[in-house]
Amino acid sequence: ANGVASTQDGRNFVKKMKEQGRNTIFFYGSQTGTAEDYAARLAKEATQKFGLKTMVADIEEYDMTHLDTLPQEYLAFFVLATYGEGEPTDNAVDFWELLTQDEHPEFSKTDEAEDSEKPLSNLRYVIFGLGNKTYEHYNAVARTVDAKLSALGATRIFERGEGDDDGSLEEDFLGWKDQMWQSVADAMGVDENAARNTDPAFSIEELVSAPEKTYFGELAERRRSIATGTVKPVHDAKNPFAAPIVTRDVFEAGERHCIHGEISIKGSGMTYQTGDHIAIWPVNSEPAVNLCAEALGLKDKLDTVVMVKSTDPTASKQSPFPAPTTYRTILRHYLDISAPPSRQTVAAFAHYATGKTKEIMTKIGSDKDYYREKVTENAPSIGEFLKQAARIAGEPEEYVYNIPFAEIVESISRLQPRYYSISSSSKVHPDTVHVTAVVLQYQTPDFPDRTVYGVGTNYLWYIHAKSSNMAVDSLPAYHIDGPKGEYAPSGNQPQRVPVHIRHSNFKLPRNVGLPIIMVGPGTGVAPFRGFIQERAAQKAEGKEVGKTLLFFGCRLEAEDFMYKGEWLEYFGKLNEANDPQGSRIITAFSRDDPSHKVYVQHRLKEQAQEVWEMLQKGAYVYVCGDAKNMAKDVQNEFINMAKELGGLSEDKATAFVKNLRGRGRYQEDVWS
Ligand code: 2AM
Repeated sequence: ANGVASTQDGRNFVKKMKEQGRNTIFFYGSQTGTAEDYAARLAKEATQKFGLKTMVADIEEYDMTHLDTLPQEYLAFFVLATYGEGEPTDNAVDFWELLTQDEHPEFSKTDEAEDSEKPLSNLRYVIFGLGNKTYEHYNAVARTVDAKLSALGATRIFERGEGDDDGSLEEDFLGWKDQMWQSVADAMGVDENAARNTDPAFSIEELVSAPEKTYFGELAERRRSIATGTVKPVHDAKNPFAAPIVTRDVFEAGERHCIHGEISIKGSGMTYQTGDHIAIWPVNSEPAVNLCAEALGLKDKLDTVVMVKSTDPTASKQSPFPAPTTYRTILRHYLDISAPPSRQTVAAFAHYATGKTKEIMTKIGSDKDYYREKVTENAPSIGEFLKQAARIAGEPEEYVYNIPFAEIVESISRLQPRYYSISSSSKVHPDTVHVTAVVLQYQTPDFPDRTVYGVGTNYLWYIHAKSSNMAVDSLPAYHIDGPKGEYAPSGNQPQRVPVHIRHSNFKLPRNVGLPIIMVGPGTGVAPFRGFIQERAAQKAEGKEVGKTLLFFGCRLEAEDFMYKGEWLEYFGKLNEANDPQGSRIITAFSRDDPSHKVYVQHRLKEQAQEVWEMLQKGAYVYVCGDAKNMAKDVQNEFINMAKELGGLSEDKATAFVKNLRGRGRYQEDVWS
């Protein structure tokens, strides 16, 4: 068995569990990998603590209509993230549709079941949701799935867990799961002294000679269609496309840079629509790779070829990433060593440290406040963290940890792609995706001399610097050439980056004639560049285009006013005469007058009468950028408008905006 099923039967998880003697399944609905990690961590604990026979399952890979045949003594976990405006993750869409359809869901036994019988009365489950409180529909997916499963007769054996990605996701998860296990033990009739299994999940074997097929950073999972056994030809999240990219500066202001990238998706088979996102797959910087290797004592073995295998021969993923490969490749391409370690990871690492270092690590791993101070607030990469812990303990610079590499592979998440709001119109640039990115570099309180570099944007910045022949000595270097040098520029082809498209619901109204109001400070303006390009092109085609308002904010007009020249051009096309009440950009420069801040919501207030009238005419509202403060303040301004100009009470005004959202007339593309 190679774990890849080739028939429809392979989608029957109940059959598979029975064949493999498993009794607990962990389904995950994951977009960026966190829910997948959590599912894997829960499964590992279930095995280690209670000897349960577990299986982790990408919910998309199984036919969920078999839920009604899961034996009563089995248990199912659902670890489900909520994405954007209350949407399921891509891989959970089918399950979501199965449960939320108006008609009674069609389960596998539907034909034989008695009418009075609830279809899922056999099912016992546990559910944890990953959401973000700064979004309107906090954990909507887990909440709805929970309610639907219960309504269909299933029994939840412990209260639903919810984590807030904006505040305390990891702590929410740790707190919830510690209590949850007792209920699982009761339900499964096991206790902590049951057959324990502490085998590592992976085995690492160093190979003396490199086999012919060694991986050096290939990303495709050679995804086979379960139904037909054929390799999927399309490029998607499991098979990114190596796309040519050209870049230029949008602005350069001291230490802050913003770059514009144009990525060709010609010939990829992928298409996009205005308002979609593009995922770019970065690599870890060379300094991050080297620091991590030093702390792990792998400095001289980075190019040793290793085989990484699951120790469970029936696991659906035989290796967490393409293998055999090298330590260097794993640290550079496959593991997220640039993100700070989770508290649980620190606790796991502490087992392998010694003396004072072990004490320090144990404390960081168990004391929330100390963890926040040392890790959260300083955002060290894995290598930086290991060095710091040793330094606090008074060990020499070269202190090497005895952490088995299998433990590293098991506890550190896989490196994930970074998503950007596309800043071009698919009507105007069907084969080219534009991105707009401010390069993330900042200092933290304890280490003012050290800079934290955001992985995705600094990877792009390095590409930009190299291709425009800037000096790169002072920048962290990235291996941008790809696994076999295939991303490097050649002939008249520029540098390439691996990408895929993620479709979003952030869309212009179908009726071009409707007015729109866009609010996008900073890089939040990115999708609106696409929107306005599109409206200008529609106008040029002779269409009746509704009034188009853009509220844009930045620090200083002379410094970070993005695409300054372009707006005049676009709005010039949208307006026949120079109408001061027509389509236009309205700017808020927050630091031009040092005596007081001017933000987009202040401008919105000044234009309230006009905006309110547009809303009466069916205008669509779009907000993009910072979720935490800006998007909230802007929404409050709309609520104020409904109170003051619509004469509504606080409750009615809130309901008014909520209702706009419900009808797709108030859309957000926000991030935290
Ligand atoms: P500031 O940095 O001067 O505070 C893009 O980042 C712009 O958004 C900047 O001008 C920034 O101003 C501004 N900004 C910061 N907080 C904001 C908020 N709560 N609402 C709207 N704009 C904000």
